[in-house]
Amino acid sequence: GLPTGLNCLQKNFPCNRGAARYSEFAIKCGGPQIRTTDVIYQTDNETLGPATYFVTDTNRWAVSNVGIFTGTSNPLFKSFVSNQFTGTVNPELFQTARLSASSLRYYGLGLENGFYNVTLQFAETAILDSATWKSLGRRVFDIYIQGTRVLKDFDIQREAGGVSYRAVQKKFRFQVKENYLEIHLFWAGKGTCCIPGQGTYGPLIQAINAIPDFIPTVSNKPPSSKKNRAGLIIGIVVGVGVVCFLVVFAIFYIKRRRKFYDDNEELLGIDIMPNTFSYSELKNATSDFNRDNKLGEGGFGPVYKGKLNDGRDVAVKQLSIGSHQGKSQFVAEIATISAVQHRNLVKLYGCCIEGSKRLLVYEYLENKSLDQALFGNDLFLNWSTRYDICMGVARGLTYLHEESRLRIVHRDVKASNILLDSDLVPKISDFGLAKLYDDKKTHISTRVAGTIGYLAPEYAMRGHLTEKADVFSFGVVALELVSGRPNSDTSLEGEKMYLLEWAWQLHERNCTDDLKDPRLSEFNKEEVQRLVAIALLCTQTSPTLRPSMSRVVAMLSGDIEVSTVTARPGYLTDWKFDDVSSIMTDISMKESDTSNYNSTASISIVGGQNIHSPNDPSKSILHGTIKEGR
Ligand SMILES: Nc1ncnc2c1ncn2[C@@H]1O[C@H](COP(=O)(O)OP(=O)(O)OP(=O)(O)O)[C@@H](O)[C@H]1O
Ligand SMILES: [Mg+2]
Repeated sequence: GLPTGLNCLQKNFPCNRGAARYSEFAIKCGGPQIRTTDVIYQTDNETLGPATYFVTDTNRWAVSNVGIFTGTSNPLFKSFVSNQFTGTVNPELFQTARLSASSLRYYGLGLENGFYNVTLQFAETAILDSATWKSLGRRVFDIYIQGTRVLKDFDIQREAGGVSYRAVQKKFRFQVKENYLEIHLFWAGKGTCCIPGQGTYGPLIQAINAIPDFIPTVSNKPPSSKKNRAGLIIGIVVGVGVVCFLVVFAIFYIKRRRKFYDDNEELLGIDIMPNTFSYSELKNATSDFNRDNKLGEGGFGPVYKGKLNDGRDVAVKQLSIGSHQGKSQFVAEIATISAVQHRNLVKLYGCCIEGSKRLLVYEYLENKSLDQALFGNDLFLNWSTRYDICMGVARGLTYLHEESRLRIVHRDVKASNILLDSDLVPKISDFGLAKLYDDKKTHISTRVAGTIGYLAPEYAMRGHLTEKADVFSFGVVALELVSGRPNSDTSLEGEKMYLLEWAWQLHERNCTDDLKDPRLSEFNKEEVQRLVAIALLCTQTSPTLRPSMSRVVAMLSGDIEVSTVTARPGYLTDWKFDDVSSIMTDISMKESDTSNYNSTASISIVGGQNIHSPNDPSKSILHGTIKEGR
């Protein structure tokens, strides 16, 4: 005869067929019995294998599992975690779960015919929602009830708003016509296969229960013990069927897996993956990118404040570029940027790529950007804070230039890209949005990115890019910190209009003290002088004369002397219109053969409105260009 119980799973489910006994069932999938206030979930703690079934001795319900987890030598068809779960009053219900590599079926047997309310409960426990690669897995499967697909591409974590350890309930109403109810969870080859571990895929479920949507007339009690026998032949047929299925499935899986890699999921080939967020999650987090949550808008697109499901405050930057850049190239770049971490750099939590949408998710910094703190009225920065900010920025840049695994030139150092946390510790943002480059290619930059007014002349004019371009911009920021005014302010009288020029004039007249922000009542005179001297060093024409950022740090901390500069930089006096025209073509040509990504920030250099007309040849290009800056 057939092994115990198997007879119940034969064609038409013969156990109790036509003689209904039960009007409900509840299963604690993959775990011991759990009693909640209104339901007793019966234990489903059997060890299942790649092609096994289990029928309760009361023939009330059954489970059958098919599928081999590939890539793992220790396949588990149950899981246990001791975490707490949100979204439920019965967390212990979710600590154990049933897993399957392909096809997991639960049957309610001997049920009275009629409509039932079926509740399925899930919570993701293997794929984490932390900001690490462990969150990159996707478990995707389909759910059928009575042979009808009720959920396609079901992803527990997505359903839970991107979080793990959160309960997800799915309710359905289905009719039982022949005394059985079949719930089939089927992995359709979608999602990931091996993040965070080999064999992390396929159906996962924690609990099932079905209650009648009618007034039952049956006892709902098990019979006194009784054994059923069924035909051996049918058993063999089912056995052969299962084997055939397995073979077909294996072929299907191998094919699928191959496709998986060169398809859309090219991303899986990348070693380090950044954390990714779903668009819907970010939409939720920012209340549908509500205008009230908008923090500002820069060259790349608007930035919104948001709150993730896990409570983290974030700044979400919507990149306004198209999908010109390949998905994997974008992801690779984001992964690299996320890996660069320092106390004085803004943390990049991850990104979102959906269709042509590209979003970046940064840690949110309470005190916004330095330009707002310095030139706005909400916050007043005292001298020692300003000096500390300078120090922090210098340290952050030193890290980018000299200490991180990669050499990174920021290209767009400016007050609005320096954010302040709750303790006014400065954090440099938007690094790496400009290109990363390696040692050999220092002078071949593809395009100019940056903000007028902070741009080093050799970079603006020739596209010649080294760290020294950042040093120049740092010098401008340092002057802004000292003076408390933006680098250009057309409301001021002539010689004061352009900060850099004014600073040099004061330096030549030996009265750099006048540069100091008049709002600063208390300050350290020696430090002010030192900072101005450093700023002037940093903004020299020749990149080679500018100090490295590590030297700047040493000078700021007083470890080394600040050498004095005597020569006023050439760019403040030398460039007349003749130069401008040749320079313009130079940049235009550079610009025209490159397209979007950074161009938002850079295009303004080329734009004719920034260059003075030929009948005004006396003005230097710096005037023209600096006007745009802030
Ligand atoms: N992580 C963040 N936390 C808090 N505020 C932020 C954050 N990131 C950006 N902001 C705010 O959003 C504004 C816009 O930032 P965004 O980087 O888009 O523009 P920008 O810095 O002015 O120009 P650019 O595009 O050249 O960087 C900033 O000025 C800042 O006030
Ligand atoms: Mg910015």
